[in-house]
Amino acid sequence: MPTILILDNIADEGIRLLEAEDGFEVEVRPGLSGTELHDALMSADGAICRSGVQIDESALKDNRRLKVIARAGVGTDNIDKKAATRQGVVVMNTPTGNTFSTAEHTFALLLGLSRNIAPAHSSLINGSWDRKGYLGNQVADKILGIVGLGRIGQEVAKRAQAFQMHVMGYDPFLTSDQAAKLGIELMTSVDEMLPHVDYLTVHTPLTPETENLVDDDEIQSMKSGARLINCARGGIYNEDALLRGLESGKLAGVALDVFKEEPCTESPLFSHPAVLCTPHLGASTEEAQTRVAVEAVQLLVNYFKTGEIRHSVNIGAVDPATLKSLRGYLNLAHRTGVFLSQWSSGGIERCKLEFRGNIANEDTRLLTSAFCAGLLQRVLEGEVNIVNAQVLLRDRGIQLAEHHDSEMGAFSSSLTISVGTDETEWVAGGTIFGNDMPRLIRLDNMILETYLDGTMLVFTHQDTPGIIGAMGTILGEYNINIAQMSVGRAATDAPGGLSIGVLNLDSCPSEDAIKAINAHEGIHQSAVIEMPPAGELPSWLL
Ligand code: NAD
Ligand code: MLT
Repeated sequence: MPTILILDNIADEGIRLLEAEDGFEVEVRPGLSGTELHDALMSADGAICRSGVQIDESALKDNRRLKVIARAGVGTDNIDKKAATRQGVVVMNTPTGNTFSTAEHTFALLLGLSRNIAPAHSSLINGSWDRKGYLGNQVADKILGIVGLGRIGQEVAKRAQAFQMHVMGYDPFLTSDQAAKLGIELMTSVDEMLPHVDYLTVHTPLTPETENLVDDDEIQSMKSGARLINCARGGIYNEDALLRGLESGKLAGVALDVFKEEPCTESPLFSHPAVLCTPHLGASTEEAQTRVAVEAVQLLVNYFKTGEIRHSVNIGAVDPATLKSLRGYLNLAHRTGVFLSQWSSGGIERCKLEFRGNIANEDTRLLTSAFCAGLLQRVLEGEVNIVNAQVLLRDRGIQLAEHHDSEMGAFSSSLTISVGTDETEWVAGGTIFGNDMPRLIRLDNMILETYLDGTMLVFTHQDTPGIIGAMGTILGEYNINIAQMSVGRAATDAPGGLSIGVLNLDSCPSEDAIKAINAHEGIHQSAVIEMPPAGELPSWLL
């Protein structure tokens, strides 16, 4: 009989549903940590949590019994998913149960900020009838900027439109057609959007790209009097920079539901009069808590009764023999996705995968899933894996196509992937050297041969003598070591035309180093692409 451990306070409806199921033992033990948590998990088959418990590697160490963790909510950042995968534990979440509640809370904060609801309330109940001190702003005809137009971002947009706001947005995975249907003015970057907005709200996960997304420079680029809201994850706005923005008068207000460190009961922001804060209440409604608790229980019950894995954020159901034979190409496909998510500049509407040579005769569906997982993994909450990646891509309206040609080209097997729109396309081609060494052999129309790992500096330049030397000198001045180097040009081009260079670096170049590179007259453009280190496999491929 499976024992299910409930590690956070979840809605009674969920607990009652689980208790009503035949053959399940239920233990409710909120507030566990350290050895107590570890020991409790050792004697459980399944667990349900919210964000109040940290399930890290030590909590799962040596656990041979636990099969599945269901998160009643969206964010799974409190669960070490790599550790869970290594332990063979499926992690599932309930992605839609709290979407409306969080969108509503965002809008409540936006309106609360605009009309000084919290300070006016305090002032009145403290005996002051002050009708001048709390002059607010109307939101109608103002511009709301939304970063992250997934489930919650889109619901916030609808609510803003109902209040007659003009909505601008940025999300690398929203196409212009989808944005047009949603009535959202799609911007090509956050930086492009910031100078226009009166209100800014973020609805992305916390990732390396979104951490400190809004810092001092971004605040300076905004209109004076802008108001900022965060109901996603603490750390997306730099909290110190917010305070500086408020103190300088640049920002008219800041509303936060989430904080870099939680629980957060002390912050210099709390004493500023234009700050409105709630203790991570976005999903705290009866409706949302009932839905996520019931959904989490249903996920667990179905898993134990039928083996069904839904909304998994860490595991792909693949049989071990296929996994072994395709491991090298799964790694290549995944890396090509990670590469193209950074090489392309967003607005992807379709992806085309061309399998050539021996690989064209294999089960390429899995390779396509591995590519999709790589393409999405830097922008979505949790680890995207080969079970959910294609669905997530199609959910975003992105079309996928596979082409197969079992005739060998220059390599016994190769994979060429193009992503883009009808107007713009980015292409990357790769192969495997030996059993497991992924190499990039084509970039757009350029032919080259380069490692597909670590920090890659890719630059296009005029094919004239001295460019590579100049790059080496600039990087040397910034104390950056070049580990590998490769140059290439289009197959049809003679020397002297456009050329491409790829340097694999031992550290990431600073903004100043990039500025110095771009300032060189021979360089047309450059990009830093962060790839997994050599030999590192995604957790679902370990
Ligand atoms: P979602 O996966 O549907 O949407 C996230 C969107 O962010 C995606 O469309 C993705 O393309 C976009 N994105 C990722 N990186 C980006 C970047 N660098 N720039 C622009 N866009 C980027 O997720 P969701 O359900 O809408 O949830 C969004 C966030 O809200 C999650 O982090 C979640 O944990 C948080 N959340 C908070 C609460 C709360 O109680 N405050 C409740 C629910 C969810
Ligand atoms: C979530 O990610 O679902 C929210 O942050 C809400 C919660 O933690 O319960």
